[in-house]
Amino acid sequence: MCGIIGYCGPKQAVEVLVEGLKRLEYRGYDSAGIAVGFKNEVTVIKKKGKIKDLRQVIPDGIKGNYGIGHTRWATHGSVNDINAHPHSGCAGKIVIAHNGIIENYTGLKEILEKEGHVFKSETDSEVIAHLIEKYYTDDLEKAVKEALSILKGTYGIVCINPDEPDRIIGARNGSPLVLGVGDGEMFLASDVTAIISHTKQVVYLEDGEVVSIRPDGFKTTDLNENRIEKDVEYISWELEEIEKNGFSHFMEKEILEQPEAIKRAISGRVITDVASAHLGGLDLTTKELLNIERVKIIGAGTSYHAGMVGAYLLESIARIPCVPEIASELRYRNPIIERNTLYFAISQSGETADTLYAMRELQRKGATVLGVCNVVGSTIARESDGGVYIHSGPEIAVASTKAFSSQITVFYLFALLLSRMRDMSYEQGIDYIDNLRSIPAKMDEIFRKRNEIKKLAEKYAHYKDMLFLGKGINYPVAMEGALKLKEISYIHAEGYTSAEIKHGPIALINEETPSVFLVPDGGLKEKVISNMKEVKAREGKIIAITVEGDDSVGEIADDVFMIPKINEIFYPFLLVVPLQLFSYYCALELGRDVDQPRNLAKSVTVE
Ligand code: AGP
Repeated sequence: MCGIIGYCGPKQAVEVLVEGLKRLEYRGYDSAGIAVGFKNEVTVIKKKGKIKDLRQVIPDGIKGNYGIGHTRWATHGSVNDINAHPHSGCAGKIVIAHNGIIENYTGLKEILEKEGHVFKSETDSEVIAHLIEKYYTDDLEKAVKEALSILKGTYGIVCINPDEPDRIIGARNGSPLVLGVGDGEMFLASDVTAIISHTKQVVYLEDGEVVSIRPDGFKTTDLNENRIEKDVEYISWELEEIEKNGFSHFMEKEILEQPEAIKRAISGRVITDVASAHLGGLDLTTKELLNIERVKIIGAGTSYHAGMVGAYLLESIARIPCVPEIASELRYRNPIIERNTLYFAISQSGETADTLYAMRELQRKGATVLGVCNVVGSTIARESDGGVYIHSGPEIAVASTKAFSSQITVFYLFALLLSRMRDMSYEQGIDYIDNLRSIPAKMDEIFRKRNEIKKLAEKYAHYKDMLFLGKGINYPVAMEGALKLKEISYIHAEGYTSAEIKHGPIALINEETPSVFLVPDGGLKEKVISNMKEVKAREGKIIAITVEGDDSVGEIADDVFMIPKINEIFYPFLLVVPLQLFSYYCALELGRDVDQPRNLAKSVTVE
């Protein structure tokens, strides 16, 4: 969603700000803007559309060594130049960019208007600029704090005032803000990708903290003027990881990175000697692990689907009752916290509001919630009671791919750990580890045949509706396949457990609605084949994904794609890859914006 960048230092701020905004594009946005300060003057430039549209309206040779920039994903007010950030107070001096939602803006706006303030936009954010302007005498930091103390809602903000040149005030409450510490220059950003090309030294701000930066240093305080000492941390991501490196799209690159991502997620966590796993970040003793009676996994979108796979696995092999739940629902049904229940909050970005707020609600009621996150230092990672990083490396494409594989890898490791404390024998443990370790090479085999999937996509991309059908542990994979297809190709797709189609969806089947069936070998294969026959009998076209050497499915399906054989509980890893590639190639065939599909944001920081 919205992105923030701020800079003060010796460089021309325009270049740093525009580059930062380009790197934030992946988050999803509809307009953008910058404010550049030069001595005691500030110039604000805003534009609906993409960063390239903004670039075109930035006058050549605009000078300035400090400034702020923003990518907006509209919540309050339509998408236009005026509603784009940054926003200014009446005098045009106090300039702010804001991520989040100000809940009491209507009342504040009314009061400020009565006091003579004139508003230009329909946004909730503009009220912040006017409020700071109201309180400003000669110290920007003081005025920002006064304004923040009466705001209700969430914010990550940056603010400048050319009367105090080369200074930026930043603050956070519910929307991330990170400080980048350079050599004689300082940065503020909503995520590290915006500043990683300049510095890898960062300070993560916590809710309630305010930072004042100048080129030569920074000072962190809370709203009550208490000084807060912050540690400077080091980002391990490399710049090349957030660049396309010759690939046409980040999504293609990230799909192909999955074997390496899985190896990283496994690395250092398998103990072959005892055929078990070690997940240090969980911070749970053996006794505590043995006392777990139930597991609940919360997440959204793809992360929820990964949680569904995890839940199936934990229940079937570790024999622990486990349920996945959509995070946005959990908070509002007043959940009962049962004894000895372990919760996982699973989120690639670690910033998804639905998951974060559900986690806080659980913690408020006394639950232990562990995070499964990709982004180091993200809010869920910091606020959870322990957890595991998936180490996928940055995921830039809006459609999540490698994070899914890495998330489920973590659950396969956790299931191994718990199972080996219960029923799983040493030999079974070794076999399980061998299967897990074999996945990256088997994924590479699928990639070598990806042209076959491209041809299938070219054949099916022009259909308007599709069903994705699987069973057992592969049912969430069918849901994930449908989500991927609709996200980036805009083809209407739904994922079901294959038996469920008889209860309604089969009414959709005719020659215009193809179905993608997941039919690997294993105990449920014959059941899925029966469902395929039901679809075939109604003239539905079928793409079947099955296992190499299995010709039985080909007699029913119109098209078949074969994946390598593996132990049946590991098929989610191998089935999801052709589905990701299928949606990628469908989107290409339809000329869609693969990495930044319409209306979507990478990290959904509002409810
Ligand atoms: C996945 O392709 C989607 N972009 C979306 O469903 C995503 O998985 C969801 O918003 C959750 O994000 P998170 O993992 O960062 O919490």
